[in-house]
Amino acid sequence: MEKNKLLPVSVADQPPKSQSYARRILSATFFVCLTLYAIKQLFREVVPHSHHRGLPDGVASKASCVQVPPLYPPVNDVKIGEMWEYIQTPAFRNASIVRHSGAVKIPTESFDNMGEVGEDKRWDIMYQFADYLEATFPRMHSDLKVEKVNTHGLLYTWQGSDESLKPLILMAHQDVVPVPASTVDAWTHPPFSGHYDGKFIWGRGASDCKNQLIAVMETIELFLAAGYEPKRTIVMSFGFDEEISGRRGAGHLAGFLHDRHGNNGVAAIVDEGAGFSTAWDQVFAIPGVGEKGYTDVYITVRMNGGHSSIPTDHTGIGVMSELVTMIEAEQYPTYLADENPMLGLLECGASHAPTFPKKLKKLLRKHSTKSQCKAKPDELALEAAKLGGRPVKYLMQTSQAVDVIEGGVKVNALPERTMVTVNHRINIGDTAETVFSHLTSLAKPVAEKYNLTLHAFDGTKEAASSISMYPSENTLEVAPVTPTNVDTITPYAILAGTTRAVYGDHIIVSPGMMTGNTDTRYYWPLTKHIFRYGPGYDPTWDKGLGNVHTVDERISVDNHLGMVKWFTLFVRNMDEAQLE
Ligand SMILES: *[C@@H]1O[C@H](CO)[C@@H](O)[C@H](O)[C@H]1NC(C)=O
Ligand SMILES: *[C@@H]1O[C@H](CO)[C@@H](O)[C@H](O)[C@H]1NC(C)=O
Ligand SMILES: [Zn+2]
Repeated sequence: MEKNKLLPVSVADQPPKSQSYARRILSATFFVCLTLYAIKQLFREVVPHSHHRGLPDGVASKASCVQVPPLYPPVNDVKIGEMWEYIQTPAFRNASIVRHSGAVKIPTESFDNMGEVGEDKRWDIMYQFADYLEATFPRMHSDLKVEKVNTHGLLYTWQGSDESLKPLILMAHQDVVPVPASTVDAWTHPPFSGHYDGKFIWGRGASDCKNQLIAVMETIELFLAAGYEPKRTIVMSFGFDEEISGRRGAGHLAGFLHDRHGNNGVAAIVDEGAGFSTAWDQVFAIPGVGEKGYTDVYITVRMNGGHSSIPTDHTGIGVMSELVTMIEAEQYPTYLADENPMLGLLECGASHAPTFPKKLKKLLRKHSTKSQCKAKPDELALEAAKLGGRPVKYLMQTSQAVDVIEGGVKVNALPERTMVTVNHRINIGDTAETVFSHLTSLAKPVAEKYNLTLHAFDGTKEAASSISMYPSENTLEVAPVTPTNVDTITPYAILAGTTRAVYGDHIIVSPGMMTGNTDTRYYWPLTKHIFRYGPGYDPTWDKGLGNVHTVDERISVDNHLGMVKWFTLFVRNMDEAQLE
């Protein structure tokens, strides 16, 4: 995954009070259905007449950022209670360090220029990783159905007893971003050492995202050891090329699962993604419920060559430069579409964060009561962007970056071919077509001015005396936004209640946005309820992202253990939930 900081970070909050499993249960006293009944009641109390105010359904719950109470599964099994206690022991901690460190030691790098599986030998490292998992998690490999999809895609199915319940899918990817040889020396500990220094496990993949893969497997292995029998089928789906677009891994796994479960055949998906962040003196858990779209646009200018001693007034490079200047002179608008999860995050800040800016709050109230007119500047979005800088701005704006240029071959020859690539991440509310038509309108006058034919997204990749534009094959529309209402028993409500059960109810759970893309892009037809969420949290280490994709990637062991706890409660809570 490509990660970005979702919020400006300020001070870390108090660590949550630790309680024993039994005490948590006693203090909670509810069975899950009762707790969810309480959620409904709470919702009724907080927004009693939402429909009378003329707000559409769902807006009311978003506007007030209703928090789900901590959600505990019922204690119906002593062994599960023992499992929970065991997760908190030094023995489990030590064993967990060894397991995760061992995973980091296997350099499962995926390179941009990799060939197909079976042809490119570099994929073979994945065999070693699969063997490692088999040796480390024997019960999962003996008790569950294990399938290999496109050789290295790992699929584990734990069949539930109730066929009528839609399965839960837990995802992660096996591959890691390569470590360039030139950066190896810059690492405090060698990138594939899996070194443990008393607090952190170091290495490529330590936090993106072998930690999530190992945490999921540790959880399931413990459940199997405890003799647990789920009602709801649980599927673990691990791709192996997420960092190079996921086509071979998730692309095949998602198709395989779609054949098996069909459209909307899955209850919910949790994959890597956003985690915890402190903003406005408040700790937030920010599961990614939206994902920006993506497109690279290739632009080619073809003009007649000739000798440099008798040049035309403008060469292809000059013409391209003019176009690039026009592209950069105008940015896409910064705005918050109603369905942008960032709006939910601001609402949560306004409702729960002690130092949420007053001006932002005022603009937020204005924003939610008036229907947005696209022609007018969105003052709320602009103010949020001003305060949060580029990382926040681009959660509310389609980005454009001219990243690659080539053209000209010889100093005494006019360039016949000049090419640039412009990268875009598409804002919620925009589409790939928004980008294509914008570029077309910019290129039109340039083409006319220089008497060139314009081939804008008409299938022509390049032609003589013309400007041509076409999109990359991995063009991706904005992801469908996951429902985040908590007025009924939704997967989001379960996720939020689980998070507050594990870490304490001082944590505010808020909808979040991803600027990067994850393997979930292939899973959209399977469920509306997709969460890109790293549920590990260590309050003493507010560096949540752990240097992903760069030197000194690492993970705090407490963060990792938090993840195991979270998956333990989440799996149980999802098993009890009567989803509507
Ligand atoms: C865990 O590991 C530490 C350091 O290696 C060791 O001192 C401790 O005894 C171990 N604890 C258990 C319960 O294995
Ligand atoms: C423009 O290009 C066309 C063919 O590509 C050519 O016939 C025409 O003479 C050109 N016009 C000018 C003004 O250069
Ligand atoms: Zn990742």
